[in-house]
Amino acid sequence: MSTVVVIGAQWGDEGKGKVTDFLAEKADVVVRYMGGNNAGHTVVVGDHEYKLHLIPSGILYPDKMCVIGSGVVIDPAVFLSEVESLEKRGISTKNLWISQRAHVIFPYHQKLDQMEEERKGNNKIGTTCRGIGPAYTDKSARVGIRVIDLLDGEQFPVLLNANINSKNRIFTEVYDGTALDYKEILDAYSTYAEAMKKYVCDTSLLVNDAVEQGKNILFEGAQGTMLDLDHGTYPFVTSSHPTAGAACFSAGVGPTRIDRVIGVAKAYTTRVGEGPFPTELNDDIGSLIRKQGGEYGTTTGRPRRCGWFDGVVGRYAVRINGLDYLALTKLDVLSGLEQIKICTGYNYQGEVMNEFPASLKILSECVPVYESFPGWDEDITGIRKLADLPEQARLFLDRVSEICGVPIALIGVGSRRSQTILTKEDLY
Ligand code: GDP
Ligand code: IMO
Ligand code: MG
Repeated sequence: MSTVVVIGAQWGDEGKGKVTDFLAEKADVVVRYMGGNNAGHTVVVGDHEYKLHLIPSGILYPDKMCVIGSGVVIDPAVFLSEVESLEKRGISTKNLWISQRAHVIFPYHQKLDQMEEERKGNNKIGTTCRGIGPAYTDKSARVGIRVIDLLDGEQFPVLLNANINSKNRIFTEVYDGTALDYKEILDAYSTYAEAMKKYVCDTSLLVNDAVEQGKNILFEGAQGTMLDLDHGTYPFVTSSHPTAGAACFSAGVGPTRIDRVIGVAKAYTTRVGEGPFPTELNDDIGSLIRKQGGEYGTTTGRPRRCGWFDGVVGRYAVRINGLDYLALTKLDVLSGLEQIKICTGYNYQGEVMNEFPASLKILSECVPVYESFPGWDEDITGIRKLADLPEQARLFLDRVSEICGVPIALIGVGSRRSQTILTKEDLY
């Protein structure tokens, strides 16, 4: 038996979906534990591409139990359309479960998200405008509506009414905007509740039973360490906890039950939305990486900002998440570059800084210190063994591992499930 947490070690979009799908072959249960439909996890099996926003990336295997934990915020319309589109493609959702305690996203959350972004103007965060921040805000403010409340025909109208009344005051009195219609939302969400109820249960019981039975459990994170509310580049973060610790509280399992943590990172770095990004390349190389890597957001279609691999971020992610291994994706994207760089530290006012600073003011003055490596020309997308990679690629991997301080267990050489080099067999 093993329980393995998969997290993003950078700013999201590292390839968590691909890695989770690959590792799910040997799992019995896959639990998505954070975020909402701000996430977009792409899984490619053969010629078929699946873009998942809420449903765990284990869903493509017919026999795996898939769980959405209490830490996830659920937009029912998105959940139901994802279920429908999977079912249409012949993917069964009969083993899919949603936590009773997960919070629900409402239209007023999306509207608030958009209005706050507009109000901030040049200081905007660049959110996905999916209502994620406002939904987690309501959860913390103890006025949120959970899935179990949505299913309660008596309780739900009362809770919704109270929320709409207070949100409408904000829309009309603070933002000078239009009010939302209570009845319209009540009707739509009552219909969603009917369709959703068969998926809802006490998922903590399910997951802990699986632990007791000695099953293999994968916890699939969303977003990335640097977008974490506590540990990321605050305030340019998401409103939840993409880091490994959150797997426990969202799934309702104790920390003593976790065996391993794997951090997914790209062989370079990307970021979508605003906020600091020390190794960003605003030049032809950045554009080339974006083009070769297809770096456009899965959820919003926005072009992703691209830059070199940041070893300071890598080490930080190892520390914050207690990583045992890295899974390094998209190595194939670097093929053809004459020179490849890794940031090993930041030069701050003439001194080399090895740790990621909390102050964005200090960070803005940091200049990356780079090591350069010769690139390789070979197409590596067909390679399945570490030893068959070009020597320059192996040198690069060794140095990434050395700088971050953990072994690399898995290497991505293409988007397909099969385009993976496994270098460690003891992941479960
Ligand atoms: P996630 O949010 O962490 O699951 O990552 P996304 O799915 O948003 O973005 C990663 C993108 O890279 C997706 O389009 C994947 O299909 C693709 N991808 C994942 N691993 C690899 C890889 O090793 N090589 C290449 N070329 N593409 C990959
Ligand atoms: P996956 O799981 C990349 C970013 C947004 C924005 C910030 C806050 O696919 O890796 P939010 O809508 O969460 O309030 O936006 O976080 N962001 C992501 N960036 N991948 C994601 O998810 C992201 N989810 C949120 O772009 O900068
Ligand atoms: Mg993504």
